[in-house]
Amino acid sequence: MFEEFFGMQHTPFVRDVPVQSLYGSEVLDDTVGRLTYAADRQLFAVVTGDAGSGKSTTIRRFVASLPKDQYITLYLSDSKLTPRWLYKGLLDQLGIESRFYRGDAKRQFQKEVEIIRLMQHKKCVIILDEAHLLDKETLEEFRFLLNYQFDSMSPTALVLVGQNELWEEKLRLRRYAAIRQRIDVRCTLPNLDRAETERYIRAHMVYAGCENDIFTDKALDEVFRISAGIPRVINRICEKSLMYACQKQKHLIDDYSVRYVSDHELAEGGNS
Ligand SMILES: Nc1ncnc2c1ncn2[C@@H]1O[C@H](COP(=O)(O)OP(=O)(O)OP(=O)(O)O)[C@@H](O)[C@H]1O
Ligand SMILES: [Mg+2]
Repeated sequence: MFEEFFGMQHTPFVRDVPVQSLYGSEVLDDTVGRLTYAADRQLFAVVTGDAGSGKSTTIRRFVASLPKDQYITLYLSDSKLTPRWLYKGLLDQLGIESRFYRGDAKRQFQKEVEIIRLMQHKKCVIILDEAHLLDKETLEEFRFLLNYQFDSMSPTALVLVGQNELWEEKLRLRRYAAIRQRIDVRCTLPNLDRAETERYIRAHMVYAGCENDIFTDKALDEVFRISAGIPRVINRICEKSLMYACQKQKHLIDDYSVRYVSDHELAEGGNS
């Protein structure tokens, strides 16, 4: 409803902003660049960042940027993934029914990767999102996908994506050394600073087709302060602020409005 009030063509601050309209920064371009390098060289990459910092969105941009005639991307995001379901999930995406036993499914998957590599002449990129929620056994199995011909070459690129605890509470530890030592590319997504928060909000407003500045400078200061530069929290504050402004028939959002919605409408002061 606020879209009409502000004369917007699209709803800003939503999850499904098309790739070409996403906010882009040097860090995000750099991350996509490094992942592209990992895909090309068939390396093992790890991406970590705070909850809501834009990891999955960055992966969406990365996947969209890979030429379809050269790459096959398999993406899994399942917090309850077990080793058997890892293979089943990967084979499902290739449109192949998985065999029941883990060992059989594994061989079946490896054979498919060989077909992709040697017959279709494409490179495989396997992405495992929400990896901070997975247990050691599943993470170990994932890295086994790299083992090929006595570990002498890698038949696929692997990308592990997860919240900071993937590194802090898992990979960094001794018992994960076998995985950690194989990491070739490590990317961390920082939260946005004040200037980036402003550019991020502007990118959403441009996508919405909104010509005018709706958020005052002080409002932007407040959004940054409350959100700590985390895109998902910025989205919630901005969306609620737009709704509030529309309800009050105000065309400008000031710092008072931002504070008001964050105090009254966002759980846990907006950091949920
Ligand atoms: N570059 C961007 N441009 C536009 N919107 C973005 C961008 N990055 C993140 N967002 C938005 O911020 C929200 C959170 O992003 P995303 O889901 O990618 O975070 P995440 O780091 O994967 O979170 P989680 O740790 O919970 O998996 C989404 O609604 C997304 O659309
Ligand atoms: Mg995510």
